[in-house]
Amino acid sequence: MVNGAAFDVTVPDHETLLSTLRDRLELTGTKLVCGRGECGACTVLVDGTAVYACLTLTAACESRAVTTIEGIGREDALHPVQAAFIEHDAAQCGFCTPGQIVAAIALLERNPSPTEDDVRRGMSGNLCRCGTYPKIVRAVMAAADQARAADG
Ligand code: FES
Ligand code: FES
Repeated sequence: MVNGAAFDVTVPDHETLLSTLRDRLELTGTKLVCGRGECGACTVLVDGTAVYACLTLTAACESRAVTTIEGIGREDALHPVQAAFIEHDAAQCGFCTPGQIVAAIALLERNPSPTEDDVRRGMSGNLCRCGTYPKIVRAVMAAADQARAADG
């Protein structure tokens, strides 16, 4: 299941989820950078947990729910984390941004009231070569504030 839709694909045992998403399903929002679990550009959710798609085998995802950046919000109804990234100008080239947003959503799911240090630690597996870290932290904190306010 990817972004709520079922896909029936036959893949080699060694094919990564990142390859399947990008090359077979044409979901290219999930980025390939290092390809070896060091940068977080390929972060997706599997059953709600953030994973590196470049280190995840597609065969291990049978019957599991995969969510990519394409499944998070819509252009006319952004997810609050996406809106906060825009509001706080938390992207420069934007290449790391899909992975950052997916990782932030998973972080806030685990910890809806993070401190700035929690956000820095929780997002430490997502690198940004443009160095937007301070703005990313601000955006994630703002999204957390907004979610708590919405919950009353
Ligand atoms: S491309 Fe997967 S961690 Fe860098
Ligand atoms: S915004 Fe360019 S790599 Fe993060």
